[in-house]
Amino acid sequence: MTIKMLPRKRNIIFALLVLVPFSEQYSSGAPPGACEDQLPRHESIVPQSSAPPYLILTSSAQVRQGDTLNVTIGSPAGAPVPIGGFLLQAREIQNPDAIVGKFVSVPATETHVTTCAKPNDTVTHSSPADKGALSFRWQAPTDFLGGVEFRATVAQSYATFWKGVESPLVEVVTPDTEITTQMAQSTSTTTARAPPVIMENKPKLTTQKLDEIYQGCADTKLCFGVPQNCIEKGDCKAIVAVFVAGDVYTFEVQGTGNPKYVAAALSLDTKMGDDSAMECVRNNNGIINLYTSWTYPKVEPYVKRSDSPQDIVQLLQSSTIDGKLYCKFTRDAVSTVKGIKFDLMNKKYNLMIVSGDGMKDPERVGFHTIAYESSGEPLALSSVGTAAGASKLLLKLHGCFMVAAWLGASSLGIILARYYRQTWVGRQLGGKDIWFAYHRIFMMTTWLLTMAGFVLILIEARGWSDTGDNPHAITGIITVVLCFLQPIGAFFRPHPGTNKRIYFNWTHWLAGNTAHILGIVTIFFAVYLQKAELPAWTTFVLAAFVAFHVVMHLVLTLTACVSDGSIGSARVNAFPMKDMLGGTRPTQIDRTGDAPYSGFRRLLLGIYGPVVLLFALAVVCLVALAPITETYNNIMGA
Ligand SMILES: *[C@@H]1O[C@H](CO)[C@@H](O)[C@H](O)[C@H]1NC(C)=O
Ligand SMILES: *[C@@H]1O[C@H](CO)[C@@H](O)[C@H](O)[C@H]1NC(C)=O
Repeated sequence: MTIKMLPRKRNIIFALLVLVPFSEQYSSGAPPGACEDQLPRHESIVPQSSAPPYLILTSSAQVRQGDTLNVTIGSPAGAPVPIGGFLLQAREIQNPDAIVGKFVSVPATETHVTTCAKPNDTVTHSSPADKGALSFRWQAPTDFLGGVEFRATVAQSYATFWKGVESPLVEVVTPDTEITTQMAQSTSTTTARAPPVIMENKPKLTTQKLDEIYQGCADTKLCFGVPQNCIEKGDCKAIVAVFVAGDVYTFEVQGTGNPKYVAAALSLDTKMGDDSAMECVRNNNGIINLYTSWTYPKVEPYVKRSDSPQDIVQLLQSSTIDGKLYCKFTRDAVSTVKGIKFDLMNKKYNLMIVSGDGMKDPERVGFHTIAYESSGEPLALSSVGTAAGASKLLLKLHGCFMVAAWLGASSLGIILARYYRQTWVGRQLGGKDIWFAYHRIFMMTTWLLTMAGFVLILIEARGWSDTGDNPHAITGIITVVLCFLQPIGAFFRPHPGTNKRIYFNWTHWLAGNTAHILGIVTIFFAVYLQKAELPAWTTFVLAAFVAFHVVMHLVLTLTACVSDGSIGSARVNAFPMKDMLGGTRPTQIDRTGDAPYSGFRRLLLGIYGPVVLLFALAVVCLVALAPITETYNNIMGA
């Protein structure tokens, strides 16, 4: 029974919350009590705990059996709040689970009657458009005597709704009772309420309702979110908003993707460390708490709550809805943390926003796995608008250089050295064999790009950067070291034909290939660095590159084997491993002409070269244009 009812209930409330109209298929024939608590079954959707900005009034406090009265739902005068969606019923006072009476006349375009327990006992919205006050005509049942009240769940937006918006008591009396036709009087202890204002019934220009935190980012609040340009669209991974009224500084933070914590920090620079952080943390018991903490740059303990006074912030509101963790709080205009005075009125601060999905320990938030961004410049918190993030130029150049080096240049350099020693034999470039000349050009390009990329990231990260659990930095630095040593080794290589040449060949081959593989692995890891803001499907592009690369190597190796076999005992050193076996025959002897299938090999190179360069270019574009995830999601309709 419960299981059967659940989807219906959820559908009804879900319909209310996502502000799509009821579908008759779910509302008709819903079992008695299906809409009884006017609440979603979904645990993470919680109503606002604040007093609702709506009220319900009736045209009279008494109604005879079978007679009708007018019910109006709206917001109090002076503070007009539009209604997005709602679900309204009359309930018995004695038995609040029982829905009574029916609605006989409702504003037809905006609302419609529906059935929860008995025909037409519920009224709800037809469209998610913003609505002003609404009036309905309700008919009292003929088989009931006693007190009823109108009760509603009203949603302002998907994320913001209030449960239990109630009317004053209405008494259903016998048909012969004399009715005093005065406005309903509140019989409960609630104080007198202002009558609803009738708002203009024009829907706002914004077609989609944004979460509360985004409202006012254009004109009343200072907002800062990640990724770039997410605020207009309302789809930030993490966002902080500051609203200033007098000397009251109200902060809001929100993180998406079911974060464990979302935190904002006031910083004197654009780097993590020595910042006063404010953490909105979803604890294991489901309760959301607010803490302040102090951050340490790249050293233990990284972040410490006990180094920061906790009473400088006061939590006003918190929620976790649809994987969105939200906190609203005030912070003292002036506070001192770690001996540093934070004067929000007179000083400018960089805003930082971070979110992550875990804790280091119960007292310390974990690595910012979901979002991390710092505003590009210090801001007066009383300013209004959307702040720009810190420049990503160095980071992006680092990415582009490394991709160009390890996907592009080194792939070409390696393939030339491995399979093309016996191609273009006799032709030279700058006094060297063609394969060697180009091998050296590509490898020097790799080396220069890698060193430049490495220096850039050192400047950007101001030294060693903690990439959390991501081994990008570790594999990266090994790649850089191997890459750095390669040309030095090559410079001191023993002359061909000497005994020690074989050791050079092996080390050079091993170090070069290890660096190449590690370099590509490091690029794979970069996809998972949230700093890079790369779409997850970059992995597929990289995987396609690797697949192509491997297939081409296989084909070229096969060609080399066939080529070797085809000339019998006079084997040609198309495959460098032969070199490494240390044959007594000097290589020059073989170099009287191109090895067999050279034409085919040149064709393969003609395919491999452009395709690899295209792959490299594609990934360079992804890095340079990141973040493009939202664009992609929009295209996919997500
Ligand atoms: C109820 O509303 C209707 C129109 O919606 C109006 O004609 C009628 O006078 C109202 N009745 C009372 C008692 O206010
Ligand atoms: C319920 O409302 C619909 C549409 O407003 C109407 O056609 C129908 O007769 C009503 N049913 C009852 C039992 O009042």
